[in-house]
Amino acid sequence: MKFNVLTLFPEMINNAMSESIIGRAITNELISVNAINIRDFSKNKHMKVDDYPYGGGAGMLMQVQPVVDAYNSIESVKNGKKPRVIYLTPWGNTFNQDMAKEFAKEDELVFLCGHYEGIDERALDMIVTDFVSIGDYVLTGGELPAMVMIDAISRLVGGVLNNETSAEFESFNNNLLEHPQYSRPEEYDGLKVPQVLLSGHHGNIEKWRLEQSVERTKKYRPDLYEKYLKNTCNK
Ligand code: ADE
Repeated sequence: MKFNVLTLFPEMINNAMSESIIGRAITNELISVNAINIRDFSKNKHMKVDDYPYGGGAGMLMQVQPVVDAYNSIESVKNGKKPRVIYLTPWGNTFNQDMAKEFAKEDELVFLCGHYEGIDERALDMIVTDFVSIGDYVLTGGELPAMVMIDAISRLVGGVLNNETSAEFESFNNNLLEHPQYSRPEEYDGLKVPQVLLSGHHGNIEKWRLEQSVERTKKYRPDLYEKYLKNTCNK
């Protein structure tokens, strides 16, 4: 899967995406991340990419031409393909696991990262297909949200996680949060690992894990618990 990121800060993307599981997935050629510097497409002698908004108002806007030219430089776009283009913005649809699954079906995505007070609306009209927020707070730019999305989508790509099953049996699967987990030692500072996990009785262990997941979901995410109840009642 290929991720293109249109940004004024390509090093931010390249540095963060070279580490850990995503870094390994790139080395293993399961995914690729191509950060494109919008500034490289400025036609201004000072490489300026922003200007004042017509009609007045605070701050500067990213201009339409460098953004659209940066998009048009993408290889697949040159070849007439139209990959989905995600604009990261606090007013977009809130990102969640279902969206991650949907985006993971694509073989190429483009992320457009805004800065300053936003982007000339014509650039959005011309190239953007999806408007996505990562939560109800305002960040200084779209790079962190783009990387959050790339991380969540990449781990759903086959082979990126060591254990193929681990992306399935985890938080948000069937609207239940993950059950508590323990590793060695059996006792630490007087705190013991629950006896059932040491019993070797798989049936009891599964039952305990499900109960714990349900309890945890009820306590921390009553909204998900309601969905879980609805789903299990309808089965
Ligand atoms: N840009 C600034 N804040 C954002 C957010 N919360 N989600 C997506 N993009 C953003």
